Amino acid sequence: MKILLGVGGGIAAYKAAELARLLMERGHDVEVVMTGAAQDFVRPLTFAALTGRKVHTDLFAIESAIEHIAVAEEHDLLAIAPATADLMAKLAHGQADDFLSTLYLAFTGPVVVAPAMNVNMWEHPATQKNLETLQGRGHRVVGPAEGYLACGMTGLGRLAEPEAIADAIEREGGKRSDLEGETVLITAGPTQEPLDPVRYLSNRSSGKMGYALAVAAAARGADVVLISGPVQLAPPRGVKVIPVRTAVEMREQVFLNLGPAGIVIKAAAVADFHLARVPDQKLKKTAARISVELDPTPDILAELGREKGDRLLIGFAAETQNLQQEARRKLETKNCDMVVANLVGGNDTGFESDQNEVVLVLRTGEAISVSRASKREIADRIFDQLLKLRLTLHAAHER
Ligand code: CTP
Repeated sequence: MKILLGVGGGIAAYKAAELARLLMERGHDVEVVMTGAAQDFVRPLTFAALTGRKVHTDLFAIESAIEHIAVAEEHDLLAIAPATADLMAKLAHGQADDFLSTLYLAFTGPVVVAPAMNVNMWEHPATQKNLETLQGRGHRVVGPAEGYLACGMTGLGRLAEPEAIADAIEREGGKRSDLEGETVLITAGPTQEPLDPVRYLSNRSSGKMGYALAVAAAARGADVVLISGPVQLAPPRGVKVIPVRTAVEMREQVFLNLGPAGIVIKAAAVADFHLARVPDQKLKKTAARISVELDPTPDILAELGREKGDRLLIGFAAETQNLQQEARRKLETKNCDMVVANLVGGNDTGFESDQNEVVLVLRTGEAISVSRASKREIADRIFDQLLKLRLTLHAAHER
């Protein structure tokens, strides 16, 4: 693979030298771009010696005014390590004032970002917002890791280990097209079921898992339709997003868009109950207890299970206990090929978190545990298993 390695100006810049060496050892071509600040930490000569190539440093002191365009076109993947808070902000906002940030805008291939900074800078809402923007664009973010930081503090902010970054680069570069020609229909987020014109019933789903699946599928070449309940997430690049509010609206859009889909993933936390007839006027406060009668919503997944044909159908099961048994029960009753099961109510996995820990329960009887990882990482593991499962099911069908 022809890899561009963008080095930002942080103390971890020295670890980028190790990463460059490792990538070369694994047989890749590496060309390095350094920001001005990066050159205060490590000399370009270090990278030139390691890669045997010229190191790009300055946008305007170059032979050709369009060198960044040529460099962008020649490479398969752009990796940025370390990505400082400043560099992440520039990338997120498309500010192009040096070679690396200009090259980033000209680059159309996959991007891997490995952040490193002080823990407070990492946790600042501005950085977190920029992170969300970069993830929403489909970039793979590796780390940061937790531990002792150069500033003397301990926490999240260390650059991920060079091996982990190299692995992520190879995964990202290696499977750009295994979902090409495929339409993937994904539902995400909660639904909101109105009680009156101003109130509703809903749940804590953030939509992050469904959005991560959409980003991963698009990055692997699929045409993606994302039917999304109300969430606070940016629409992923290259994905057709259809916003809905209620379970009934979600059902309608799922069946309107089902035609070309070969893979259907129901990551949405659909409300199980709704008020069948919503009053026209706002309910007035009274001193007395009131009660509302709720009716079941249509079970979209079960309906899909009855009409799935040879599509792959994937459900989700959020459980507080008996994870695998419940997931297996849902797989069977709703005729799914896979159920992604996760325990909710625990610490820092599940609804609002960026991380998750799941068990993939398959139609074949297998159950595969995926240990705690980013939702994007989990999304890729789900697609890896789905493609394997499809081969197994085809082989069984032929026999
Ligand atoms: N689901 C759906 N339509 C509904 C409710 C759920 O499509 N009205 C889907 C969800 O998107 C998810 C799966 O069904 O993929 C599991 O949802 P869950 O509510 O946990 O399933 P239930 O069968 O309602 O099980 P439980 O007994 O836990 O309520």
